[in-house]
Amino acid sequence: MVSDRSTTSCRRWRCCALFLLSVLIALVATLTVLIIHYDIILSTRKDDKISPHASLIDNMLEEPKIPSVFHDLTHDETKAIVQYLLTTREFNLQDNTIAKPNDSFLYFAELYLPNKSAALDHLDIGHKAPPREAKVVLLRGDKSPPVVEEYAVGPLPQIIGHRLLVSKHYGKSAPYLYRPMTDVEYKEVQRLLRKIDKDLKLVLQESYDSSFFDCENKCLVMKYYTSVTPVSSGTNRRLIWFLAHHDVEYFMLNPVDFAVLFNTDGNDASEYSIDRIWYAGQDFATTDHLLFLYKTESITKSFFPFPEDETEHFSYSTLRGTQFPFKNYRSPKEILPDGQRFTVKDGRVTYMNWAFHFRMSSQNGPQLFDIRHNSNRIIYELSLQEIAVFHSGYQPWVRFSNILQSSRLIGVHSKSLIQGVDCPNYALFLHYHHLHQNLNRSTNKNSVCIFERLEWISTKTAFHFLQGRS
Ligand SMILES: *[C@@H]1O[C@H](CO)[C@@H](O)[C@H](O)[C@H]1NC(C)=O
Ligand SMILES: *[C@@H]1O[C@H](CO)[C@@H](O)[C@H](O)[C@H]1NC(C)=O
Ligand SMILES: *[C@@H]1O[C@H](CO)[C@@H](O)[C@H](O)[C@H]1NC(C)=O
Repeated sequence: MVSDRSTTSCRRWRCCALFLLSVLIALVATLTVLIIHYDIILSTRKDDKISPHASLIDNMLEEPKIPSVFHDLTHDETKAIVQYLLTTREFNLQDNTIAKPNDSFLYFAELYLPNKSAALDHLDIGHKAPPREAKVVLLRGDKSPPVVEEYAVGPLPQIIGHRLLVSKHYGKSAPYLYRPMTDVEYKEVQRLLRKIDKDLKLVLQESYDSSFFDCENKCLVMKYYTSVTPVSSGTNRRLIWFLAHHDVEYFMLNPVDFAVLFNTDGNDASEYSIDRIWYAGQDFATTDHLLFLYKTESITKSFFPFPEDETEHFSYSTLRGTQFPFKNYRSPKEILPDGQRFTVKDGRVTYMNWAFHFRMSSQNGPQLFDIRHNSNRIIYELSLQEIAVFHSGYQPWVRFSNILQSSRLIGVHSKSLIQGVDCPNYALFLHYHHLHQNLNRSTNKNSVCIFERLEWISTKTAFHFLQGRS
């Protein structure tokens, strides 16, 4: 009897325990599901809201079938231009990758803006849109005398002709002497630099712990230049200073006291020469002269050790020192509770009562057109035209130099804006394409960002075009 009762109660307890265990498992399972749901699914959804630009960028990349008067060249138009340049005898065009200074080759091409009156007739009284044209800049090293020519080519995309463009004031094409620096010319500079490197290996090794060629991981670079125009050199020749730097991250911040003045006058590369060499504050006419005086100990020598420790060297952008915050808390974020409040379509931004077109000119940089408020045009064009930088200093290459950045193409070098640094995290980033020193167009990622500004946010930028990340 006793044993019977105890067996029954024992079975009841076991049932009870089993039941409780299953309830517990069910609870744990529910809790896990909930945690996953809130932590992962909901938080990513929240993140989607914070940065919706990924999908917007894709929309932007879809180019309109019929671009507006202010729209930059589309992919199809670019292809048509290159095809036209290659098949028109008169241009005698050579591919940039194999061109020599005595060839005809492309510097850049971009939209050639229509006349304002024609554009206004189209926008305001519904006239036919003015024909879309491209401005093409060719270095005509093949001509005698060689020149820099600009053409208007159009209408796009079914091109039927071109015309030479000349400055209203100058009245003719620019002489070759004033051509912009190109990869084609830089190759010839490199060829001469090879000879310098060979002749002066000893000097470079002893002074800078590195050299330009066959240098493994201790190299010098010579990429940075300042043009010397006839205005400052006093001679009608093309002379260009190139400066040497240690080839480390942000080489611009690691100069050594070695520079070369190259003479790249005319279109015959075999005539290009070394005009002067600057070493440790002294001037030399030839490598032989410098080497002779160096070996006979009759000049001042300099010594710049090669930056050894990459992580510690000041110009590297690696994190170093004590990291903050000590606790792994994330930083505050600005959010767009309902998404962007502006729209971007075919190069036109619409925001509340405002609307405007924007483009990135390869040469002049960012430009806004047809800025309207409540549908009334208040500005036709608001655009960057030029960035002029005057340098002066004691070293020969900066003694007198007035650099007009548009000759180096402002839009082509506009890229690599960084999210959260140059623009807020929630900004919309746009890519731009350029046809520059290449018959295929290249893409500049993140060259423009659009965002609605919160008053208290400051924006900054720290980027050098010679070594930005893209
Ligand atoms: C633009 O205007 C100028 C001067 O007003 C004129 O010479 C030129 O032909 C016009 N260009 C076009 C494409 O209409
Ligand atoms: C152009 O220059 C290259 C090398 O600089 C030379 O080989 C070639 O003969 C030149 N062409 C003409 C037509 O002078
Ligand atoms: C352009 O791109 C095409 C395809 O990607 C390639 O075949 C061609 O060689 C390129 N041309 C130039 C000039 O780089």
